[in-house]
Amino acid sequence: MLRSLFIALSRHKALRAFSERSSIGRTLSSRFVAGMSVPEALAAAEDLNREGISVSLDSLGESVTDAAQAHAGAAVYHQLLDQIQKRGLDANVSVKLTQMGLDIDPELAEGILRGMLVHAEEGGTFIRIDMEGSEHTETTLQITERLHQRWPGLVGTVLQAYLYRTVDDARRLLDQGIRIRLCKGAYKEPASIAYANKADVDQNYSHLMIYLATSGVFCGLATHDEAIIDRMCFLTEQYNLPKHTFEFQMLYGIRRDLQRALAASGYRVRVYIPFGPEWYPYFMRRLAERPANVLFLAKNFFRS
Ligand code: FDA
Repeated sequence: MLRSLFIALSRHKALRAFSERSSIGRTLSSRFVAGMSVPEALAAAEDLNREGISVSLDSLGESVTDAAQAHAGAAVYHQLLDQIQKRGLDANVSVKLTQMGLDIDPELAEGILRGMLVHAEEGGTFIRIDMEGSEHTETTLQITERLHQRWPGLVGTVLQAYLYRTVDDARRLLDQGIRIRLCKGAYKEPASIAYANKADVDQNYSHLMIYLATSGVFCGLATHDEAIIDRMCFLTEQYNLPKHTFEFQMLYGIRRDLQRALAASGYRVRVYIPFGPEWYPYFMRRLAERPANVLFLAKNFFRS
């Protein structure tokens, strides 16, 4: 129930505007968000790279309603691509199509992504298209497929284990050699299209994870679920799977201990670094995943 409440709040426009302007909001969000600016995000990336951890930079923003906002969002990604190349960072970028104007016109979003890929190609940087709510799943896959045809290996997307369709989508993308990030899924979806029960989502994730990791296509296993991660490590050892054939991915500020331990054991680890003033929906989805975070944040806030 709390999950649904936080997901509903993540779409609350007035609360979003108020929170993003307030200094208390920015302080609280710093638990999961690496600052408000490009230099702060790059500093976080450099710190993680020094620990042998790759990163994916995400300039926060979604569901824009005019083309100027979409182009402004893209401009930040062009800055990131320049800086990744200039500083030699072990980094790629993650982008949301609704931040690039998908809700206004899918061709606008696809055109912006094409411009980014032209830029990314110069530095050999990979672009990951995040997956949003299920109303966007099919369009996101189709755009990724078209971009992959022109820039093979430089673009991939995300599949969510809570959707029934994901097993077919995984086959569809892997057949084309498209890189997948597998996550459990962070949105509220109806039981007609998604597993409602956490145990079913976890089980589907485990099956899909093995399929992806043994597919020959380099995939990302995005989860903080220690039982699932332990199982993947066990299978890797048991079947002598080379550790570099997949990577674990986790979010900035979550399970830093596990991120470091996996990297120290020779696994590839990538941390997703979100940043920027439009942090509110992302932050609320993190609270939805673990409502206990509210208490944790409140305690730390009053202690500081
Ligand atoms: P689960 O929710 O079962 O949590 C397992 C354990 O992880 C918890 O017991 C806790 O210890 C820890 N944990 C998880 N979430 C936490 C939190 N918020 N705060 C503190 N601890 C937490 N989703 C999506 O729909 N589209 C996308 O594109 C992406 N992209 C993405 C990239 C990366 C790198 C990651 C790691 C995740 C995503 N997600 C996503 C989010 C994903 O769908 C999912 O909501 C979260 O990862 C939480 O699920 P877990 O797999 O961690 O398991």
